Amino acid sequence: MEAMRAVQILNPSGEVTMPRPARPRIMCVANQKGGVGKTTTTVNLAVALALHGNRVLVVDLDPQGNASTGLNVPHHAGIPDVYDCLIDNVPLADVAQAVEGIPNLWCVPATIDLAGAEIELVSVVARESRLARAIAAHPETFDYVFIDCPPSLGLLTVNALVAAQEVLIPIQCEYYALEGLNQLINNINLVKQHLNPTLDVSTILLTMYDRRTRLADAVEQDVRNHFGDKVLQAVIPRNVRVSEAPSYGQSVMTYDPGSRGATSYFEAAQEIAERGVKLGGAA
Ligand SMILES: Nc1ncnc2c1ncn2[C@@H]1O[C@H](COP(=O)(O)OP(=O)(O)OP(=O)(O)O)[C@@H](O)[C@H]1O
Ligand SMILES: [Mg+2]
Repeated sequence: MEAMRAVQILNPSGEVTMPRPARPRIMCVANQKGGVGKTTTTVNLAVALALHGNRVLVVDLDPQGNASTGLNVPHHAGIPDVYDCLIDNVPLADVAQAVEGIPNLWCVPATIDLAGAEIELVSVVARESRLARAIAAHPETFDYVFIDCPPSLGLLTVNALVAAQEVLIPIQCEYYALEGLNQLINNINLVKQHLNPTLDVSTILLTMYDRRTRLADAVEQDVRNHFGDKVLQAVIPRNVRVSEAPSYGQSVMTYDPGSRGATSYFEAAQEIAERGVKLGGAA
């Protein structure tokens, strides 16, 4: 069973495809709470979609550079990064790097330079829409652009919300999960009112689910009652293979494709792709 799942996930023959959306989907992965699985979700969904026939770009918008690390993309000081796009108008194409070993996947890395951007952006013209402009100017079209946000609601996250059409919120299945979510939703609504009217919280993903606890189940019920069908059926379990993968510069999809973590991210990616088809060509 495990071996069969691994083959399906790694898809060496290219046989298993996830439907490509009619138009590019730009998804902002946001939650100002730290450590809820934003980066893990970004990296694994991106790899899953890319392994199954989609062209995918990951934009690392967190000065911690965790998404760049997870995809094994060089991001030490001096490497051209997303900071250059935001502050110096360098085209995305000049800083995007192909992810080794995963065809159809690219990453715009974040270096430590990005730490200064939050403050430097304040005095830049059109400071909230720098990333939107950089993505719109990118000549290559992607099926998916995932923007990995830092754990804050500052100007970097606002840039991601202005650039995106959709918000994907990972929610960790723990007691304080819903606290702070109102603040995130309020910010999203402000961006909608003033800067990006079509922005939509399209997807909620439950992460680090521990089925041994009743609490995880209670949180899941709460989130499903509150957000209805925005919540993906797939739930990501707490799985040690998921947390080991980044230290090998890999996603769990390639590090241990037979693991429960890989299977659940594969299922989540499949659901997202299927929903993308229903979105049709409008927008
Ligand atoms: N399903 C999982 N099972 C086990 N560990 C996980 C799982 N998902 C994430 N982790 C681990 O939890 C930690 C936090 O995850 P991650 O970095 O994705 O969160 P984040 O929201 O991006 O954090 P930050 O707010 O700092 O950017 C990491 O060490 C990661 O490896
Ligand atoms: Mg992160």
